[in-house]
Amino acid sequence: MSKQIALLVGSNSATSFNKIVANYIKSIAPASLQINIVEIADLPLYDRDLDANSPEQYTRLRNQIAAADGVLFVSPEHNGALPAMLKNAIDVVSRPMGESKWIGKPTGFITVVASLSGGVRVSDQLRLISSAPFINMPALPFAANIGGIFNGVFNDKGEIASDAVKETLQNFIKAYADFVEKF
Ligand SMILES: Cc1cc2nc3c(=O)[nH]c(=O)nc-3n(C[C@H](O)[C@H](O)[C@H](O)COP(=O)(O)O)c2cc1C
Repeated sequence: MSKQIALLVGSNSATSFNKIVANYIKSIAPASLQINIVEIADLPLYDRDLDANSPEQYTRLRNQIAAADGVLFVSPEHNGALPAMLKNAIDVVSRPMGESKWIGKPTGFITVVASLSGGVRVSDQLRLISSAPFINMPALPFAANIGGIFNGVFNDKGEIASDAVKETLQNFIKAYADFVEKF
């Protein structure tokens, strides 16, 4: 039976390159993984006072993560950091206090950014966050960092044009599937 993998995308743009990569990952994932892209753009900004009577968006995402066997993040870089939308989702699912749904789920990071740095800062930040006590997720040691996205990585049809990028993503998802199997 396939492992259920929740995939969070750190951009809600209608023309998001990260969404293109998320859909590509979904399409090439091995049969051992079922990738489920989860909605995070509609979450109210996290406020612990809301935990007493959580908005249904919080409850929905918490339940989706609770039901997942693993979690993937596909993210742009916003001013040198992970986007607020993604950090908000991480915080929402880490609470109420003592009820974090992240703990123990194997995770992996893909970044898709304009600069040639490829978003290494973001995958490193996500890896650091994954070690926080109420997140506590084992992380695949290497990330797939896709940079220079305005230079031939995608074509006008919104597809990945670069064979090298496709190969990087194929290798990443195979390694992630092996990693998930260990748990
Ligand atoms: C608020 C904001 C900040 C950005 N900061 C960075 C950055 O620090 N490094 C970078 O490489 N690209 C940066 N970009 C450009 C993004 O990499 C580019 O817009 C990319 O397409 C975002 O991914 P998306 O298409 O999935 O939304 C930034 C974009 C926005 C909107």
